[in-house]
Amino acid sequence: MKWFVELLENIPLAPLTTIRIGGPARYFVEARDVGEVQAAVAFTRSRDLPLFVLGGGSNLVVADAGWPGLMLKIAIPGIDQRGAHDEHGNVVFDVGAGESWDKFVSRSVMARCAGIECLSGIPGSVGGTPVQNVGAYGQEVSDTISSVQVVDLRDGQVRELCREACGFSYRASIFNTSDRGRFIVLRVSYALTPEGKPHISYGDLKRHFAGRETMPNLAETREAVRHIRALKGMLIVAGDADCLSAGSFFKNPALSEEQHEDLKQRAAARGLTVPSYPALETHRKVSAAWLVERSGFAKGYGMGRAGISSKHALAIVNRGGATAAEVLALKDQIQHRVEEIWGVRLEPEPVMVGF
Ligand code: EPU
Repeated sequence: MKWFVELLENIPLAPLTTIRIGGPARYFVEARDVGEVQAAVAFTRSRDLPLFVLGGGSNLVVADAGWPGLMLKIAIPGIDQRGAHDEHGNVVFDVGAGESWDKFVSRSVMARCAGIECLSGIPGSVGGTPVQNVGAYGQEVSDTISSVQVVDLRDGQVRELCREACGFSYRASIFNTSDRGRFIVLRVSYALTPEGKPHISYGDLKRHFAGRETMPNLAETREAVRHIRALKGMLIVAGDADCLSAGSFFKNPALSEEQHEDLKQRAAARGLTVPSYPALETHRKVSAAWLVERSGFAKGYGMGRAGISSKHALAIVNRGGATAAEVLALKDQIQHRVEEIWGVRLEPEPVMVGF
């Protein structure tokens, strides 16, 4: 273990998040290898300080007062393609948690390996992807992750967790549920299909390629996904005001048959039809964006310096100088109205830090 890492103090966190909100971190360390991660953890233990692990900052809302403990930014680099195929004939990439996710997707597509092409254009770093089981356009990282290398904070050991041990489900894993705070992700191994076909199942993607005679390749699929995301303000584009967000602010709720019936009746009473699709065996997932939009929060809605993206009703945006308090006030208002009108409680998707 290293005994020395560069320890910074009072570092503003807003610039390290995509929504550009939040106060400073009391202490800040950028760790480039496991030794630096362990040294930072040892420092928090010696001072009894709370620890928060920061990746790409794309799914976070940091409190205005900031973070009173140590903010550990994981900057472990490396995208290593293993020489031999695994037992299923897949190509395995070992990727440092600090690598940019979209850079890795681009690399995999260039290597003509399929499995994550629909996850193009998602901001953030590789280390965050298993934590919330990132998903979009019909793919989830749990489809292709083969293992996750972590530091176990219970005993400080480095462990390799296989996919099954990660307990993946919709936007969840052991890392953000049962074992929250126990592990720090160092490296993620992805098993991708060499010369595989792109996964075109999601409506938006099918529509994009409608009328085409030939099957799109991986690179075209990547471009299509980035294009669709850009139209929804879900691609970070410099200068686009709709990009100062934390992505989807609410999860798509999974309803029981009974709750779904109730929702359908409420919609019918208003002459509306709820878009939904089967999720899990007995649950139905409905669109949170649809509920938000039909509760008085149109795209572009503003509440002071916080607002709703003009391109997608599920993204709360910082319209310039917004505080975390303003974002949370808008979140509360949305939750309240949606529950009042539709009887559905929306759960926030981003991680709240320092509240
Ligand atoms: N819709 C609206 N208003 C809108 C946008 C969408 O009513 O402003 C309705 C439409 O009926 C649409 C449906 O919602 O058909 C679904 O919308 P969309 O395809 O944009 O997907 P989503 O369910 O809102 C999810 C993920 C996104 C991911 C997209 C694409 C969640 C919470 N969000 O959004 O992930 O990119 O699918 O697969 O699961 C994220 O998690 O941060 C994120 C951006």
